[in-house]
Amino acid sequence: MKKRKIALVVGTRPDIIKTAPIIRYLEENKADYFVVHTGQHYSYELDKIFFEELQLPQPKYRLDVKSVGPHRQGTHTGTLLLKMEEVLLKELPDVVLVHGDTNSALAGALLTSKISTTRAYTGYNIKLGHVEAGLRSYDRTMPEEVNRVICDHLSDYLFAPTESARQNALKEGIDEKKIFVVGNTIVDSVRQNLEISEEKKQLLNDLGLEPKKYALATVHRQENVDDKARYKGILEGLGKISKELGIKVAYPIHPRAKKMMEEFNLEKPKGVLFTEPVGFLEFLQLEANAKITITDSGGVQEESCILNVPCITVRDNTERPETLEMGANVLAGADPEKILECAKKMLKPGTINWESPFGDGKSAERICKLLLEQHT
Ligand code: UD1
Ligand code: UDP
Repeated sequence: MKKRKIALVVGTRPDIIKTAPIIRYLEENKADYFVVHTGQHYSYELDKIFFEELQLPQPKYRLDVKSVGPHRQGTHTGTLLLKMEEVLLKELPDVVLVHGDTNSALAGALLTSKISTTRAYTGYNIKLGHVEAGLRSYDRTMPEEVNRVICDHLSDYLFAPTESARQNALKEGIDEKKIFVVGNTIVDSVRQNLEISEEKKQLLNDLGLEPKKYALATVHRQENVDDKARYKGILEGLGKISKELGIKVAYPIHPRAKKMMEEFNLEKPKGVLFTEPVGFLEFLQLEANAKITITDSGGVQEESCILNVPCITVRDNTERPETLEMGANVLAGADPEKILECAKKMLKPGTINWESPFGDGKSAERICKLLLEQHT
């Protein structure tokens, strides 16, 4: 049987962190694979730091298609298509694996399916796999929701992290034979790195933070930081948490959020400690030792649940509803009072009483085995 050639598409911080276990598995098993990094994220602290810390081989291709800002989604996606087409037509992999809900994933999915529609003429037939399939916020104003819906509907293999994600895909009429519940590779990443990350615990001292006596915040999503009123409300909420609960709030700020804070001329609330984004190992330590997390990040909602840290999501919906159902997470929107109220609720004794629904840390192995064992 011919060995299958697999292309992995990554472009952003979460893609790299969550694809790392897949890369590791493929390396260890001497599989025929290569990585295409779209360059959507390019700052050292959102990109190269993860290759270094997680000891990943350099991607075979770096496309350097930087994000061009919120008003140019078409240009960004279009340029990704153009650049990626050169690579895929040269390499002609058997499968392309995209991850999550970014523009990089959308472009990888769209391109793969477009190439395959030429099969009658060219003979090219590349299968598409989508990791983190079936997640839905049911909010089409979010670029991420649009991207994930399209990726799912174009895919031959939908790697759903949970049964509820599988059900979402089924409800949209996707063939059940294409859907595999495999858990989320973030569990693999956390398990593979939590112990190693202890070596970065010094960061807490450096920032003047004591274990379980501070909150950790990350806020960067378009619907929050590009909206002045929402972002202002969230920052005020962080300030209230610090003041009323008498704890510091550490906020490693994403470049998008930093830029928008400056553009909107928003004040830094007292008690909130702003830092540059940190590496995954440092972030794991900050998370594991936090009293509570406040976030709009998908990955941080999952990691908080896995690490048994209560989470407040500063959004009106989430595509990770399992975390809400089990009491690990609560939706607070962007209202400062509501954010404070949610923090008080989540810090009541006895709240931490859930089991992560995201799998056993063997998701990467399951995904790779399914891809490698399928006949072409
Ligand atoms: C993207 C994803 C989002 C994900 C996030 C992970 C889409 C539509 N959004 O959002 O789902 O949660 O990545 O972090 O794909 N910037 C830098 N350096 C970088 C990257 C970005 O300075 O390395 C700044 C630039 O000003 C850029 C802005 O951040 O224009 C937005 O970047 P972009 O990749 O479009 O979106 P993210 O907000 O990072
Ligand atoms: N993360 C990190 N450093 C930081 C903030 C976050 O390494 O300063 C990691 C975090 O552990 C998680 C991932 O980045 O695995 C989440 O990425 P992000 O919030 O950018 O994207 P999302 O999950 O919302 O798509």
